Amino acid sequence: MKAVKVRLKARGVIAEMTHVPHESASFHVTGEAIYIDDIPVNDQLLVGRVVYSPHAHASITSFDLSEARTIGGVHAVLSSRDIPGHNQMGPVVKDELCLAEGDVVCVGQAMFLIAAETEEQCHEAERAIKVSYKPLETILTIEAAMEKNSLMGPPAIIERGDVQGALRSAQHRVKGELHTGPQEHWYLESQVCLCIPGEGRDIFVHSSTQHPSETQALIAEVLGIGKNEVRVEVRRMGGAFGGKETQGNHSACWAALLCHATGRPVKIRLFRDDDMKITGKRHRFLSRYEAGFDNDGLIHAMNIDLNSDGGCATDLSFAIMQRAMLHVDNAYFIPNARVIGRVWKTNLPSNTAFRGFGGPQGMAVIEAIIDRIARHLKMDPVEIRKRNFYGTDSRNTTPYGQTVENNRLPLLYDCLMQSSEYRKRRIEIGRFNAGNEFFKKGIALTPVKFGISFTTSFLNQAGALVLIYKDGTVLVNHGGTEMGQGLHTKIRQIAAAEFGIPLDRVKVNATDTSKVPNTSATAASAGTDLNGMAVKNAIDTLKVRMAESMARLWTEKNPDKPSKAVDIVFKNDAIADSAHSGRSISFAEAIPHLYLRQVSLGTTGFYRTPAIGWDKEKGYGKPFHYFAFGMAVTEVLLDTLTGRHTILRADILHDVGDSINPQIDLGQVEGGYIQGNGWVTTEEVKWDEKGNLLTHSPDTYKIPSVQDIPKDFRTELLQGVPNPGTIRKSKAVAEPPLMLSLSTWLAIKDAVSAVGNHEIEPEFSLPATNEVIVLSIERIRANKILRPGVTVSVRGE
Ligand code: MTE
Ligand code: HPA
Ligand code: MOS
Repeated sequence: MKAVKVRLKARGVIAEMTHVPHESASFHVTGEAIYIDDIPVNDQLLVGRVVYSPHAHASITSFDLSEARTIGGVHAVLSSRDIPGHNQMGPVVKDELCLAEGDVVCVGQAMFLIAAETEEQCHEAERAIKVSYKPLETILTIEAAMEKNSLMGPPAIIERGDVQGALRSAQHRVKGELHTGPQEHWYLESQVCLCIPGEGRDIFVHSSTQHPSETQALIAEVLGIGKNEVRVEVRRMGGAFGGKETQGNHSACWAALLCHATGRPVKIRLFRDDDMKITGKRHRFLSRYEAGFDNDGLIHAMNIDLNSDGGCATDLSFAIMQRAMLHVDNAYFIPNARVIGRVWKTNLPSNTAFRGFGGPQGMAVIEAIIDRIARHLKMDPVEIRKRNFYGTDSRNTTPYGQTVENNRLPLLYDCLMQSSEYRKRRIEIGRFNAGNEFFKKGIALTPVKFGISFTTSFLNQAGALVLIYKDGTVLVNHGGTEMGQGLHTKIRQIAAAEFGIPLDRVKVNATDTSKVPNTSATAASAGTDLNGMAVKNAIDTLKVRMAESMARLWTEKNPDKPSKAVDIVFKNDAIADSAHSGRSISFAEAIPHLYLRQVSLGTTGFYRTPAIGWDKEKGYGKPFHYFAFGMAVTEVLLDTLTGRHTILRADILHDVGDSINPQIDLGQVEGGYIQGNGWVTTEEVKWDEKGNLLTHSPDTYKIPSVQDIPKDFRTELLQGVPNPGTIRKSKAVAEPPLMLSLSTWLAIKDAVSAVGNHEIEPEFSLPATNEVIVLSIERIRANKILRPGVTVSVRGE
């Protein structure tokens, strides 16, 4: 097993492999790709607008829509009173009103809906709406929620061993607090939905949603109609990143209400600023920790309190907290561990899924702890990490009882330490820092171990519908949605490989609730794992039917030499009897024969992930089918006067099993890392004291740009590591690479630490914005002057 270079910069290596571009790549670049805003409708189309609360918490004492309703071109102005069904759009817990009733609980909460012929008429109507409010007390921070005991629900706990005893007897302890910030999804296509009325109560919905079945269910619920009357189609999303796992439903419910009220097609497309103000973000966390370790840096115990800001409604907050709790161990065996998770309710938009789904927030805590242990012991953090990695035969069970199988950490570590020349560069960096007062360099290696499966176990299921037409072309329907991650490309490759036919004969249909029912969200990185298996299952059924019929046909032609169905193979664009040479027919030629022989050429497929199960009350079990692994080394150059930093070099080695599509996987790894770099550095979300979002456009919210790509970017996929028990031995890729960005965060901390000659520990939160960096440096410089030569003890001890 060896890591083979599959470098984007050295494209030659990749070109030698079968390179299958994203199925929509040419449409993306020519602009032909159809997003919802591009769908041609007719002159009946109305513009929908949502009017939202300007108060973080208030009761609505009165409102008057009568004047707004008289404005020319306005076809509907709706309040909660006009909802024909149930006023709810909570995905799991029904605590989220579709339109406000009585109180408003955050700035951005939907109150009224307007449908008009033009955008301007919508604005005019909005201005004509009269509302009076009585302001109520607001909770806008986790700390304030704690003070008021504003819990979203009961705390969850995972516990193993004797934590207090092990902490007490440990040679050293670190104790502290870590804030990790929210993150805005910044999908390029903002939330959008187009609803088209059909006959009777039918409604056809084009929604930018990761979860068409849930969108369908909630629309049926708000309209008070059957799910069989609602059809949701998703051709593609212009990015989602978890932000459309539940919150695509909102615009869809609103558009459906307006469509129902007017009997005309209605489209709601949120403006960027509105989108940023009214949708939830990655949960910010306030984490408190204590860890006990010995002189060698081996961790004996940790006690961790995770607190998240759930916002004003439940959404997926508990599942996200659970995943955070299941990832505070990250890559490390910690014999005595206690993790408590609490979700706090505040007056902010309900926070939601974001790539990593709590995993990044959990992992940041243990990575911060390890970094502090290393600084306390004056050792290189890589040594502490290596010492604490999960073992392969022993020290390999997680605090929640799952065994870490097929542990790739030692292999990744050995390969990456070597390929990144970590030790040599560490020495060079030391030399550079000794010779430069205002510029400092820093380096860090961090691992990722990420559990693959929905932690809500029953969600690990998928369906498919595969159709073969008489010309031998294949149409694949499955429950997964395309958001740019390349799912449809991989599904197409899987279908072509299973049938043994060329790719151009296979098309993947837009996701459609009328083709595959009751699907799970495309989330938890499991899109290909689940839907790929469901598609394979359907194809297996078809192949059995086809093989039986072909065997019978050949046997009828030559009864002396019967063909057996089990010998029939599908490869090289042909169906052949492997036991009789000469019995072969091209796939496309075989189909008309099979049709004439009355073989059913369409079927459904299904898959459920085997052998997982987890008791969230006990905090014990096997929540994950397997783990994905990755590791990164990041080196930064820091201008200590401004806090500006540049990533000089990043080396990433990531495990995707046998990759179905190496280029797509590399894109996911690089994209995830860069997106994570935004979270750990520049992406700062700020609200004012009234709960108004201040950072609601790209001029105040800074996502990574081309300038932020590492100057030397080396991404490789671990080779020769097939993943047992998955589709084509592949591994999920999507979310785990985001957490590789913790290496950037800690490389910056390392550079800051160099300011005090690694004698004084920097105070550091996440994101490490320029401001955080400069303040941290100022404290170090002040400390150096005040107490020359004194080592400051680890905070909190
Ligand atoms: N990649 C792109 N280009 N756009 C996206 O919106 N979403 C991420 C990830 N990669 C996303 C993406 C998230 S949060 C998840 S869960 C997965 O893709 C979902 O797709 P998959 O399970 O098919 O990998
Ligand atoms: N990941 C993403 N989405 C989810 C999960 C999960 O683990 N559980 C429920 N929804
Ligand atoms: Mo991804 S956060 O599971 O949609």
